[in-house]
Amino acid sequence: MLFDTHGRIHDYLRISLTEKCNLRCTYCMPEEGIKLRSKSHFMTSDEIITFAKTFVGLGVKKIRITGGEPLVNKDIKRILTELSKLPVELSITTNAVLLHDYFDLLKELNIGKLNISIDSLDEASFNRISRRKHFDVVMKNIRKAIDLNFEVKLNVVVIKGVNEHEVIDFVKWSERDKVAVRFIEFMPFDGNKWDWSKVVSQQDMLNDVKSHYVENTIIQLQEDDHIIARDYQITGAKGTFGFISTITNSFCGTCNRIRLTADGKIKNCLFSADETDLLTVLRSGGDLESHIRTSITNKHPQNAGIDFSDKETLLDQRPMTAIGG
Ligand code: 5AD
Ligand code: SF4
Repeated sequence: MLFDTHGRIHDYLRISLTEKCNLRCTYCMPEEGIKLRSKSHFMTSDEIITFAKTFVGLGVKKIRITGGEPLVNKDIKRILTELSKLPVELSITTNAVLLHDYFDLLKELNIGKLNISIDSLDEASFNRISRRKHFDVVMKNIRKAIDLNFEVKLNVVVIKGVNEHEVIDFVKWSERDKVAVRFIEFMPFDGNKWDWSKVVSQQDMLNDVKSHYVENTIIQLQEDDHIIARDYQITGAKGTFGFISTITNSFCGTCNRIRLTADGKIKNCLFSADETDLLTVLRSGGDLESHIRTSITNKHPQNAGIDFSDKETLLDQRPMTAIGG
């Protein structure tokens, strides 16, 4: 088992399969995309599978596949097939652009949980945020995922002046369909022009919801051990909505997450600039377990020790697409 020095067990691994993406969301990627490096910098499929097995051997119970956009990895079928043989709950985060090609495979492998990014219900606005024109296919694939009974979470990064006025429309969607909408506070990463004035806090969003619904129709749901969202439901709704308030009200106290970037580095926190180069350790025949343990041991109690009010400390970040959403 992997414990850090703050008593937190680490049994949830997020693996990024690629830094590439078929969208260019403003909050995630710089406009020009990110510098592509040669293949040798990145984990091969076999290395990904080896790492996954190593972590499972150390007590990991949940693996989430992320990116960039994981479905643009050409070997995705084999990777998912191999990982689905491990004794873990396997899930995937996707932008749904290519999802129609994978419904059958996901069903076959019993991967029932999908986190899908969708930041606007308005075509022009969606395309502006993602700097591409895939709105129709994304909406169609989300519909299909719901109809096929996947457990669908919808990730909405809320940014002031961009999509904050759509919070209520998303809450209404959670009334109609069995989806879990999750409003995510805008976080600072390299190249995304973050500053405090663009953050819409959980409290602001909740106030917005409260001004549209009668107070006693908004029910707060029970939290589990490793919460990442604070969830609510409108009375009689099929779905739920919640907030991932990393900036104003973090979940660090119950964090159980470890990240493995596409270039094989462990990031013990979304915000940590320190990385452990596990891929080099593997390729040189080193001791994976001791490096993993050291990385977890060095984990800070909160947000990798970063103070969001101090601009200088934010400069070390990778773009989100190079971390793994
Ligand atoms: N702030 C908040 N969430 C982000 N994501 C990417 N960049 C950011 C950011 N700056 C998350 C979103 C997206 C996933 C791929 O990563 O949830 O859906
Ligand atoms: Fe791609 Fe997701 Fe980043 Fe958008 S947020 S550019 S879909 S990885």
